[in-house]
Amino acid sequence: MKVLLINGSPRPNGNTTLALQEMERVFAAEGIEAETLRIGSEAIRGCIACYSCSKTGKCVFDDAVNVAAEKFRDADGLVVASPVYYASPNGTVEAFMDRLFCSTPFDKTMKVGAAVAVARRAGTTATMDALNKYFSISGMPIASSQYWNDVFGRGPGEAAQDAEGLQTVRVLARNMAFLMKSIALGKERFGLPEKEPRAYTHYIR
Ligand SMILES: Cc1cc2nc3c(=O)[nH]c(=O)nc-3n(C[C@H](O)[C@H](O)[C@H](O)COP(=O)(O)O)c2cc1C
Repeated sequence: MKVLLINGSPRPNGNTTLALQEMERVFAAEGIEAETLRIGSEAIRGCIACYSCSKTGKCVFDDAVNVAAEKFRDADGLVVASPVYYASPNGTVEAFMDRLFCSTPFDKTMKVGAAVAVARRAGTTATMDALNKYFSISGMPIASSQYWNDVFGRGPGEAAQDAEGLQTVRVLARNMAFLMKSIALGKERFGLPEKEPRAYTHYIR
């Protein structure tokens, strides 16, 4: 059982890293293989709507998105952690997530998703909402915790003092592990939910 963690911070030893390290320890204790990709300082451009991915099954820009796509395909869960910039995920994370979810043709149904927002003070729930939307359009159950998944700190390392935030992400990781294990059992017993042929309209026809 595998989980892929995306660290959207450009700061290698920033607060997002601390939040994810807390989750990695829980995944290790739960016997779940965890791999973290730090994408925050990569030059990740936005989607150009070329739709070449619909023919090739991968993004035309061969960067961290295509690397993550292969790992995401084999993972049972995806954690996306972003620093909050102007009350949203940072631009790199948004560009990465648009392209990752648009370009990957594999079925994401029942892969578990979790969003983590890291901020100095505000905008965490809006950031979580933005990230959860990638999961909820993809048949991915969303893991939750005892509070919204936010961790607070400004300068690198300050989040170490946010005892409640770190507990929140530990509980999140434990709940996510339970969900991934339960879904694996459910898939064995019942298979994935039946799929309907896709109705695809844009309201005018
Ligand atoms: C461009 C920019 C915009 C930011 N906007 C917000 C914000 O809207 N709300 C907030 O609480 N913190 C904001 N911050 C602060 C970061 O979210 C905070 O420093 C966080 O700890 C960064 O995580 P990191 O250490 O993992 O990079 C902003 C920082 C930058 C660089």
